[in-house]
Amino acid sequence: MYVCPICSEKLKLSNKTYRCRSGHCFDLSRKGYVNLLLTKGRNPAKSGDDADMVRSRTEFLDKDYYAPLADRLCQVTAERMKDIKEPVIIDSGCGEGYYTTRLAGIEGSRVYGIDISKHAVAHCMTRVHLAGITNCEFAVASGFQLPFRKECADAVVSVFAPVSNDEYARVLKNSGVLIVVSPSARHLYELKAAVYDEPYENKPNVYGLNKFNLDEEITLEYPAHIPSREDIRSLFMMTPYAYKTSEEGMARLAALTDITVTCGFVIQVYTKKTF
Ligand SMILES: C[S@@+](CC[C@H](N)C(=O)[O-])C[C@H]1O[C@@H](n2cnc3c(N)ncnc32)[C@H](O)[C@@H]1O
Ligand SMILES: [Zn+2]
Repeated sequence: MYVCPICSEKLKLSNKTYRCRSGHCFDLSRKGYVNLLLTKGRNPAKSGDDADMVRSRTEFLDKDYYAPLADRLCQVTAERMKDIKEPVIIDSGCGEGYYTTRLAGIEGSRVYGIDISKHAVAHCMTRVHLAGITNCEFAVASGFQLPFRKECADAVVSVFAPVSNDEYARVLKNSGVLIVVSPSARHLYELKAAVYDEPYENKPNVYGLNKFNLDEEITLEYPAHIPSREDIRSLFMMTPYAYKTSEEGMARLAALTDITVTCGFVIQVYTKKTF
């Protein structure tokens, strides 16, 4: 499945090292993932989520507030994979593997998670080991240079992560599907209303997916009661608002002891255009 990020030749695993024919080597980490991000592409400012963000996301996701999204995502993906014997699914920008490990429940699936953050990928390995999952592999890599061969995947899934028109089209089979999850207009509106003077609705993401046709769009919205300061803070810290909130806003956040928020998601299913 994996290709060498230097020369694009196939990588073979032997004695815990991936090697290509040209002799480039990538060792499995102690936790069992491989880092296929080239050093020159490793800009610390662009190395994805840091350890604190990964911890916040894990703490929040593990309370299953977003379980209805995980269930719906798996249902939509499984439906598209139902006639395929061993579907290959790539979760691009997989974070700490909450959705990836659930996608691995799809019958016969082989699931590959990639993320540019090594903290996130290390956590994915902990998750699969704890759950005894054997059909998931993880690599540190960029969604804009996927370490997979051409037309190898039946599905690419991207949940709240950067989206690459060219790379997703390259790695998907012609019959493959791209499933993108983004926030709906009302996602977490009540949290923003509690923190900001002028809360705003989210604008739809524009991905420029000109190599794909939109085939299906599902909006999933439900209220979630968040009953503790800790969970409210974890939720806030895993959003982009964590970077751009004033001290006054953070003080209002800290004063919240519970809140009911709208969890709102748009699941889009795209098919590949054939030229
Ligand atoms: C908002 S998080 C979503 C994570 C996960 N999909 C989830 O929903 O729990 C965005 C993720 O994209 C990753 N990321 C950012 N830029 C990336 C890139 N160029 N390639 C791959 N992953 C990237 C971040 O490290 C982070 O884990
Ligand atoms: Zn190579």
